[in-house]
Amino acid sequence: MSDIKVLVLVGSLRAASVNRQLAELAAETAPDGVTLRLFDRLGELPFYNEDIDNDAEHGGVAEPVEALRRAAAEADAALVITPEYNGSIPGVLKNAIDWLSRPFGTGALQGKPLAVIGAALGRYGGVWAHDETRKSFGVAGPRVVEGLQLSVPSAVFDGKHPRENAEVAANLRDIVGKLAAEVG
Ligand SMILES: Cc1cc2nc3c(=O)[nH]c(=O)nc-3n(C[C@H](O)[C@H](O)[C@H](O)COP(=O)(O)O)c2cc1C
Repeated sequence: MSDIKVLVLVGSLRAASVNRQLAELAAETAPDGVTLRLFDRLGELPFYNEDIDNDAEHGGVAEPVEALRRAAAEADAALVITPEYNGSIPGVLKNAIDWLSRPFGTGALQGKPLAVIGAALGRYGGVWAHDETRKSFGVAGPRVVEGLQLSVPSAVFDGKHPRENAEVAANLRDIVGKLAAEVG
């Protein structure tokens, strides 16, 4: 079986991001035959602008947008790992969803399985952001796998890297394996 490629998007730009650490752990623990690739440039994307998106004659979209769409096109599935900001999706991630949602109906993640997980400070682990990210990606084109959920209150890590939490590591590996199994 050929390798399954999973695009990873992290909704925090912070260097010491717990969600980035979860992305590291997901890559470290991925089952054989599954490769995770973090697209680490969400902070370079300009705000979505439909005029620019539709104006190929004048140079088209910025290079980071092309890179995001290329990374998405090369992937078989996507794993989104995000904190919650003010009860919702961090703006940097919502902006990426908007770029990935176009061209309408033929975006680079169209029909591909996608799972949303993450950690946040609150006691529900960012579940509002995770639900809203599922809703938004569900409109944007990918096939959101609803059953794959993990919303971790970051206090469980006690300031340590998530790889030191065996239960979270096992859950993450399970989710990545199930996401890969959704690739048809
Ligand atoms: C602007 C902002 C808004 C936040 N809003 C929430 C929130 O609504 N719910 C929550 O659980 N945590 C909230 N937090 C705390 C984040 O969950 C916490 O900073 C988390 O560690 C961020 O993820 P990261 O470590 O991947 O950067 C917020 C943090 C920031 C900076």
